[in-house]
Formats: sequence, structure tokens, C-alpha cells
Amino acid sequence: MNITKHMQPMNKTQLLHEGKAKKVWATEDPDLIIQEFKDDATAFNNKKRGSIADKGVTNNAISCRLFTMLGENGIPTHLVDKLNDRDMLCKSLDIIKVEVVTRNIAAGSLVRRYGFAEGTVLEKPIIELYLKNDDLDDPLMNEDHAVALGIATYEEVAVLKELAAKINALLKPWFAERKLRLVDFKLEFGRHKGQILLGDEISPDTCRFWDAETGEKLDKDRFRLDLGGVEDAYSEVKKRVLEL
Ligand code: TMP
Ligand code: ASP
Repeated sequence: MNITKHMQPMNKTQLLHEGKAKKVWATEDPDLIIQEFKDDATAFNNKKRGSIADKGVTNNAISCRLFTMLGENGIPTHLVDKLNDRDMLCKSLDIIKVEVVTRNIAAGSLVRRYGFAEGTVLEKPIIELYLKNDDLDDPLMNEDHAVALGIATYEEVAVLKELAAKINALLKPWFAERKLRLVDFKLEFGRHKGQILLGDEISPDTCRFWDAETGEKLDKDRFRLDLGGVEDAYSEVKKRVLEL
């Protein structure tokens, strides 16, 4: 039996896409897909590869909790239901090929590209747009590039940036209550029946979290930078996200 809360079974019918961290499956309902979270981990656009034990289970749990919280606070998301440990039932999206990165504290490529000292608290969040294209190494871009490439309209990019700012305003205090500093994070969006929805995932793969007391990195930087304790960091974030 595979009866879900939707009163009908929701089965994977066809593999639509296999990404670095997830598989995307079609279902019997053309409006719904299933995101299956894998344990595979990559960094620096596939140059570094590995696996993080139980990452898929952890990231599915964290993402479902966060998307539920955001949905309850007026953010339109693709989440329909958490089906099981690794599977998230979602509305199917026409993905907008823009990665929207929001930064509260300088880290990562902001430090490398602009010379900020790591840990500098930004007076105002910085929102950046990247072209979602692995062959081109996801280059930084602006609205004009997105429109010229036919990826989105100016109005759509404005909606993405507005949603990113609202999501940041919801996530920052929410993580602060859990003693985590939300350093930066990446979002993806897509179109569904004329509406722009938040898609993909929000997890330690796509965010930087620093412990509020010790400053310890509790995210994928532990894997990227070979810091060790990767699994422990992911499960610590999961614990704080699910316990409160
Ligand atoms: P960056 O400092 O490397 O540009 O990363 C900014 C944020 O975006 C960080 O929280 C990690 C996340 N991110 C992804 O989710 N996917 C990516 O491919 C990259 C480069 C960053
Ligand atoms: N998306 C990047 C990759 O697949 C990983 C990262 O640095 O987050 O290589």
C-alpha cells in the first residue's frame, strides 16, 4: 500500500532529471513531481565529489520543515507533502535558470571576489544573481543578462529578489532562535500555473550556518574545505531545526 494524505497513491513513474544532490521523478499527476534527496555531495561545480552519510534524509527533513514555515508565512513554495525519508512531493515547476544568493555576513565567493574580511556583518543584505548553467560555471550576472538571455522578464527578476529578501527576513530570526547565524543561502524559483514558487531545497548544502556561540561552521563548507565532522554538522542543524 502506498496511500498518502492525498487519498491516492503517489508513485514515481519516470526519472525526469538526475542532479548532483537530487533526482526528480514524474508522477501520475502532471502537476506534481517527486524530489528524491541523495547522499551524493559535490563542490566547486563537480570538481570535488563525495558522499555524506544520510545527507538526503537530513536535507529532506530540513527542507520540508523550512518550506512549511515559509508557506505558513505567505511565501508560495513548491512543497506539497513530505512523502517519506527521502522523497518530497512538489508542484512541477518550469525552473527559472537563476540562482538567487542572499548574504548577511561575508563568506565564500564574496570574500574571494570583493576582498571582504570573512565574518564582516553586512549592513544591508546583498542579493546576487547567478546564471544556473554548470557548463559556464554558474557565472554572476545581473537583471540585464537574465532578460537578454530570455531566462526571465525584469518583472520576474524583481519578484525573485523581493521573495529572497522576504525569505531572508523570515529565516534569519528563525535560525537565530536555534542559535544559528544564517550567513548566506541560495534559492531557486520556478513558474507553476502563472505563479512564481520557491523551488529546490533549503539545507546545509545551500546555506551557510555558523553556530551563534562558537562560530563553528555547520554546513557544506565542512565538506568543501575538508574540515571533517561533516555528518555531525548536518545532524546538528537537523536537530536544531526539528526540535524547536
Ligand atoms: P558562494 O559564497 O560560494 O557564492 O555561495 C553562496 C551561498 O550559495 C552558500 O550558502 C552556498 C550556496 N551555493 C549553492 O547552494 N550552490 C552553489 O553551486 C554555490 C556555488 C553556492
Ligand atoms: N553546486 C556546487 C557543485 O555542485 C556545490 C557547491 O559549492 O555548493 O559543485
